[in-house]
Amino acid sequence: MDAKELILSRHSVRNFLPNPIPPDVLNDILEAGRLAPSAQNRQPWRYLVYTDNDKIQKLALNCGLIGLSNFFIRKAPCLIIACADKKDNLQLNGQDYYLVDTAISFHQMMLMALSHGLGSCWLAAFSEKKLRSYLQIPASWRIVALSPFGYPAEKSLYSKAVSGFAQSAKRKALEEIVEFR
Ligand SMILES: Cc1cc2nc3c(=O)[nH]c(=O)nc-3n(C[C@H](O)[C@H](O)[C@H](O)COP(=O)(O)O)c2cc1C
Repeated sequence: MDAKELILSRHSVRNFLPNPIPPDVLNDILEAGRLAPSAQNRQPWRYLVYTDNDKIQKLALNCGLIGLSNFFIRKAPCLIIACADKKDNLQLNGQDYYLVDTAISFHQMMLMALSHGLGSCWLAAFSEKKLRSYLQIPASWRIVALSPFGYPAEKSLYSKAVSGFAQSAKRKALEEIVEFR
């Protein structure tokens, strides 16, 4: 798939086959994150990678009450937690770029995953307090997102409900978001 095909076909995947991700594919995905651009090349991203489904199931129960909405992660063969280390932050115009950098890097990983036929879903519904205490991560890290990674299974009722609720297929028109000057 070329970049255009990747961008046009990408959508959030919330139901997965149990098939594990081959190690070379997982490595490609992680490399895509590693090679991302960042403010002053500070590379603040840190990734926690789970490929043991028992551990993923346990983790799914430690995302707080709000995290239960993303309970579908328990079926994924891989879960990646994207963290950002404030020690590698660049602040410009009052903006903290470590979170931006990490989002760019994680999205690169998701696109690389798709190029291998794997689905993912950016997840922000978790209690950072609960999860960070479960993960025992350093105080300077923030948890930016979680995403399951795996081969897509048929859309579950839950996936259909969530994408219906979020009107996931809809986008604002270019005129609403772009101003030619
Ligand atoms: C920052 C961010 C947070 C999100 N959090 C969640 C979430 O917690 N649970 C979920 O099911 N989807 C979550 N999503 C997925 C969005 O619902 C989805 O990207 C949007 O509806 C567009 O659908 P698409 O990704 O299929 O194009 C999140 C996406 C982003 C970018």
